[in-house]
Amino acid sequence: MNLNIAVLPGDGIGPEVTKQAVKALTAIASEYNHNFKFTVADVGAIAIDKHGDALPDETLELCKNTDAILFGAIGDPKYDNDPSAKVRPEQGLLKLRKEMGLFANIRPVKAYQTLLDKSPLKKHIIEGTDISIYRELTGGIYFGEKQLSEDGNTASDLCTYSREEIERIARLAFVAAQNRDHRLTLVDKANVLESSRLWRKVVKELAEEYPDVKLDFLFVDNAAMQMILNPKQFDVILTENMFGDIISDEASVIGGSIGLLASASVGDKYAMFEPIHGSYPQAANKGIANPIASILSAAMLLSHFGLHNEAELIRLAVEKSLKLNITTPDINAENDTVTTTNVGDFIEDFIFNPKDTNLNFKNIHLGQSTII
Ligand code: IPM
Ligand code: MG
Repeated sequence: MNLNIAVLPGDGIGPEVTKQAVKALTAIASEYNHNFKFTVADVGAIAIDKHGDALPDETLELCKNTDAILFGAIGDPKYDNDPSAKVRPEQGLLKLRKEMGLFANIRPVKAYQTLLDKSPLKKHIIEGTDISIYRELTGGIYFGEKQLSEDGNTASDLCTYSREEIERIARLAFVAAQNRDHRLTLVDKANVLESSRLWRKVVKELAEEYPDVKLDFLFVDNAAMQMILNPKQFDVILTENMFGDIISDEASVIGGSIGLLASASVGDKYAMFEPIHGSYPQAANKGIANPIASILSAAMLLSHFGLHNEAELIRLAVEKSLKLNITTPDINAENDTVTTTNVGDFIEDFIFNPKDTNLNFKNIHLGQSTII
């Protein structure tokens, strides 16, 4: 298959982790005779520094002319601590999602057998957890009208949703539930918010078209608690933009590290693949960033194009690396010498030699070349 992939590494650890994902995709292309062409472009704080714009026109243009986007991370502390900043790196990502119509953000959350002891949550609680979060991505409070009074003492962000915006992602979530365990939970705050009541109404109506899916509802505060108390109760979660942002970070604790969580952002026309973690600037250029979320995002990219065997091979490689403890310090406190590149090298090796599993393990630990 020929694929043009726009690579937007962004800020902080974005470039390091994306590099490993590109390496994995390149190995897949060579093993399966695909032709993947990567074109790199700027987004986020680095784009502000270089072009004065968090999403330069050339980047958007490139994204609109590619088959898929591989996104790294954005954000820089110099903006976080400056509430008066007029341009912010996050605007780049938000504008990209909006302009590309990426209304559904799919975030799988899984407790890996080999990492059960690494989560701060008890093993028996998280074991077997397998959730797919469908987060609405181009509406709600993120994109509603923002106001700041002239005296600077009052501010507001409007949360707006239309039936159409709710329906299109809800349909995707219902279909996902049909292909999984046939359970869908709508997370909202319908006891307080008008917009949530619209979500409930629309989703309830749609449910009639999906009689094989068991629909239930949870208020977001309760959902946040249930996620920690009993995450196994969830199959597919459907929720609006900001609730999805919050509960997906919370859910990442189940897997042991936010550095493991991948996501796909899809619309009618385009698709982008991005780790759910941020730019983690404190870790940048230290070789300690976990590239797995980015590598698994690359696997989601492959699945999106129907390359299921290829995606499965990447997932197997990731599982093997976790099993052999070839992982970065966030989930590897006992051995903090394994670097971002080491993990990427192992995944690459595994793709080339899936049957030959233990050989490279030694090399990685000795810090030697993994080419055999
Ligand atoms: C995410 C991130 C973004 C969001 C930020 C960087 C704007 O937290 O993708 O979850 O809030 O959507
Ligand atoms: Mg987030």
